[in-house]
Amino acid sequence: MRVVVTRRIPETGIEVLRRAGYEVRIWPGPLPPTREELLQFAKDADGLLTLLTERIDAKLLDALPSIKAVSNMAVGFDNIDVEACTARGVVVCITPDVLTETTADFTWALILAVARHVCEAADAVHRGQWRTWEPLGFLGQDVAGATLGIVGFGRIGQAVARRASGFRMRVVYTDREQRPPEIEQQLRATFLPLDQLLAESDIVTLHVPLTPETRKLIGARELALMKPNAMLINTARGAVVDTDALVAALRDRRLWGAGLDVTDPEPLPADHPLLQCPNVIVTPHIASASEVTRARMAQLAAENLVAALRGERPPRSLNWDELHRKG
Ligand code: NAP
Ligand code: GLV
Repeated sequence: MRVVVTRRIPETGIEVLRRAGYEVRIWPGPLPPTREELLQFAKDADGLLTLLTERIDAKLLDALPSIKAVSNMAVGFDNIDVEACTARGVVVCITPDVLTETTADFTWALILAVARHVCEAADAVHRGQWRTWEPLGFLGQDVAGATLGIVGFGRIGQAVARRASGFRMRVVYTDREQRPPEIEQQLRATFLPLDQLLAESDIVTLHVPLTPETRKLIGARELALMKPNAMLINTARGAVVDTDALVAALRDRRLWGAGLDVTDPEPLPADHPLLQCPNVIVTPHIASASEVTRARMAQLAAENLVAALRGERPPRSLNWDELHRKG
């Protein structure tokens, strides 16, 4: 068996693939392979261990007919056409759970950093601009006691809610379905329709996957519903927010701030208007980037791939059951 890994990943994952006896080809570049490069590099491969930077669609699968499994080292899978994979008998796997707590931690890093101008203030110190204690300098928003609105109350959304209790916050959430009363009680969270959540929250944090329904879920209309001193945090996917509408709201100071680990486009060019907006923190899609979590993600992605190629049920597959129902 030959497997292709589309970038250097933690060794834990590579060891799993090598122990399985596979020939492992690792894309050596610091940037993702282009489509053409990937087609060449993965020729005759049986499996792909991909990142969210690779687009896996019908065209690619048809050009690589030897591929039997695609294992994404990510929980999000908007880069993969799962239907096209299933139609061709290709198993698709992802890495949920192992990154939930680390991503929730980072969401809180953004909440606190935006609320209290942490990056701007630290930059000022580095530039030698700390002259004195300023009664009117870097005034932020209180997080303790504020209302936290969570859009998408799945694994990460709920982990973010758990952390809110220490800040004595009112937690409201929206999702496709209201959670059972015992979950709501445990997390001290109340279900609200999206519009009401936007109108009542001081901090809105996004945790939905990117799907046709959630693309530009937060646009001009939704941003206009938010309080002028509210902030938007996005560690989900950039395209869940209409970037132009967000730029307009921040520029016109109709929104107090934004903390974005994900953007549309990604990467964000250094001259992008979003970076000229007041009180915006943009980080380069690093919410799951702790040493331990990335190692776990690599290991799970590799274990998924090995199982799929052995014809065994992978630990976390999106379409194994569907493929095997088909016989
Ligand atoms: P999850 O457990 O599946 O949670 C997503 C939640 O959103 C689910 O409850 C889902 O409901 C809900 N949802 C889906 N479509 C919706 C809609 N149209 N309206 C309202 N709610 C909707 O996923 P997760 O593990 O928490 O991860 C969430 C996302 O975070 C991933 O898909 C990924 O894009 C992103 N992420 C980013 C990073 C990063 O590095 N920045 C790291 C990890 C994850 P159903 O269960 O009914 O579908
Ligand atoms: C990261 O964005 C992921 O989906 O795991």
